[in-house]
Amino acid sequence: MKLFLDTANLDEIKKANEMGVIRGVTTNPSIIAREGRNFQQVIREICTIVNGPISVEVISNQADGMVEEAISLAAMHPNIVIKVPMTAEGLKAVKVLSAKGIRTNVTLIFSANQALLAASAGASFVSPFVGRLDDINHYGMKVVEETVTILRNYGFSTEVIAASIRNPLHVKKAALVGAHIATIPYSVLMQMVQHPLTDAGIEKFLADWEKVKDK
Ligand code: E4P
Repeated sequence: MKLFLDTANLDEIKKANEMGVIRGVTTNPSIIAREGRNFQQVIREICTIVNGPISVEVISNQADGMVEEAISLAAMHPNIVIKVPMTAEGLKAVKVLSAKGIRTNVTLIFSANQALLAASAGASFVSPFVGRLDDINHYGMKVVEETVTILRNYGFSTEVIAASIRNPLHVKKAALVGAHIATIPYSVLMQMVQHPLTDAGIEKFLADWEKVKDK
């Protein structure tokens, strides 16, 4: 399973990229707004750091507007993937963009049927939201699992991105159910890096080394 970083924060993206573990970045309007900077500048800078799909979301809610925005965003860099909301208008836009060779990531997916529709329309990626379903007492990872099975059953090339990831357990479960990608916040990446036994082990090795280093 590949890991994408779910942020537009350049410091976080640089740090994660230096660790060699991320293969792409996902953003959404809320994530971009957190940076408080010029949107296009932020996206351009992300594209200079990570060499992989960079998802950028359209704002329009009509297919024509989505397509227009998508064409202009896709022209910014070849790695840009257009995030389109899972609506009837979004599906229409995905069909048009797919025919133009512009990659799409259908977002705000909360059921396997929505994912099937998005893949059928030609989406390159579908993003079921795990955490937001868990928040309302539904089992979010089940949607990821069902989506992976359905798309595999019928040979879709669409990749499944487990999104709205809130903790390391979500990441592990996404990998176990066969998601192609999990897009994760930087905080979750750092939680995955750390283990108290690793810290204790390093401390013990260094303490033992101190005893003999000058002998
Ligand atoms: C990524 O594609 C999604 O926009 C993001 O994972 C949503 O996460 P949230 O539910 O924590 O806002």
